Amino acid sequence: MDVVDIIIAKRDGHRLSDQQIEWFISNYAQGETIADEQAAALAMAIYFQGMEPDELSVWTRAMINSGASLQLGDLGRPTVDKHSTGGVGDKVSLILVPLVAACGAAVPQLSGRGLGHTGGTLDKMEAISGWRASLSLEEMVTQLREVGGIIAGATSDLNPVDRRLYALRDVTGTVGSIPLIASSIMSKKIAEGTGALVLDVKVGAGAFLPEVERGRQVAEAMVALGEDHGVRTVALLTDMETVLGQAAGNALEVTESLEVLAGGGPADVIEITVALAREMLALVGIDTDPAEVLSSGAALEVFEQMVSAQGGDLSAGLPVAEHQQQVVAQESGYLSRLDCRSVGVAAWRLGAGRARKEDPVSPTAGVMCLAKPGDKVEAGQPLLELHSDDAHRFAPALAALEGAISISENAPAARPLIVDRISKEG
Ligand code: URA
Repeated sequence: MDVVDIIIAKRDGHRLSDQQIEWFISNYAQGETIADEQAAALAMAIYFQGMEPDELSVWTRAMINSGASLQLGDLGRPTVDKHSTGGVGDKVSLILVPLVAACGAAVPQLSGRGLGHTGGTLDKMEAISGWRASLSLEEMVTQLREVGGIIAGATSDLNPVDRRLYALRDVTGTVGSIPLIASSIMSKKIAEGTGALVLDVKVGAGAFLPEVERGRQVAEAMVALGEDHGVRTVALLTDMETVLGQAAGNALEVTESLEVLAGGGPADVIEITVALAREMLALVGIDTDPAEVLSSGAALEVFEQMVSAQGGDLSAGLPVAEHQQQVVAQESGYLSRLDCRSVGVAAWRLGAGRARKEDPVSPTAGVMCLAKPGDKVEAGQPLLELHSDDAHRFAPALAALEGAISISENAPAARPLIVDRISKEG
């Protein structure tokens, strides 16, 4: 097998054979035969030529086989997970995992850290005093059996080829390829051992794929991959035109999640969480109303158990930033736009996110959206509250927010939060 032949075949628009795919992925994973520039050339050829559905399925299977897969065994409960393509203020996992566990399923959520303007679930959970992200396989199985939910970091032997390929795509302009995104996400989720999966594919200004059509294409590819690999999969396309809820930032989002778990919190966070929970429960045949379970407080109890099982102490309270600065409305009217990506970048510049994988994050930094699009506002009314332990960070955060806020005479049209649903049945 010759890697140059594989690159040329894809460059010229041919379907790669199963043997070519398996050879490429296993050799790239081992890190010797194939140079990064050759893998980059193949990624670029895939970017332009795409992949046939069955070709993508073989590619994804090869990625899964390149590393370990979790064998969760019999937990006494059906397993189901959720994956979000990421957005600003997306704290849904913190509520959804204990909620679905409280309804009787096991949720093995292996998450990542944030990069760029979107936050990572592990960074948020680490704002809780003492909480640790890393669990051994044995600890995962025990916690899933006893508590029903885990939020933990993926072990390094799970899909190592994705880490290598993703880092390469990041620096070669090939992240945006639909087959490469779909296989990257699904190979990780399938290797995690879940029996069913709900995908929250974000679309709109703050999403990784802002256009609805591209979101739909990636969702369709991922649903097909899940089903091909025996994982029942449904995707919701959900709106990320503005921040989800009010809080963007690690401890701020944990606080908001605790409010939702306690029966309060912002309506949009509740709507998306309950919609995803319904899909997850339907996939595993549990006929329980998650809205009722959420308002009963049972999900909060499971969250507390999940936190203490991983060394966390909620009674210590959550850290609060030393400094706050408000952004006020320049005129009266309706808040018609609050640009999601700008708020994400502002939170990141305040310290909530990282530019490089190894950077530390601040648990306290972030942005509170005191008004949301559609709200009537008065000139001088606070719209945003910036939080940071380092007051020097306010100026760059404010620069990111320039032009991010529009106020108009008339109320903007309401946008549906759930834009579409993609399943095998169509
Ligand atoms: N998230 C992933 O895990 N992989 C991608 O390719 C894109 C987003």
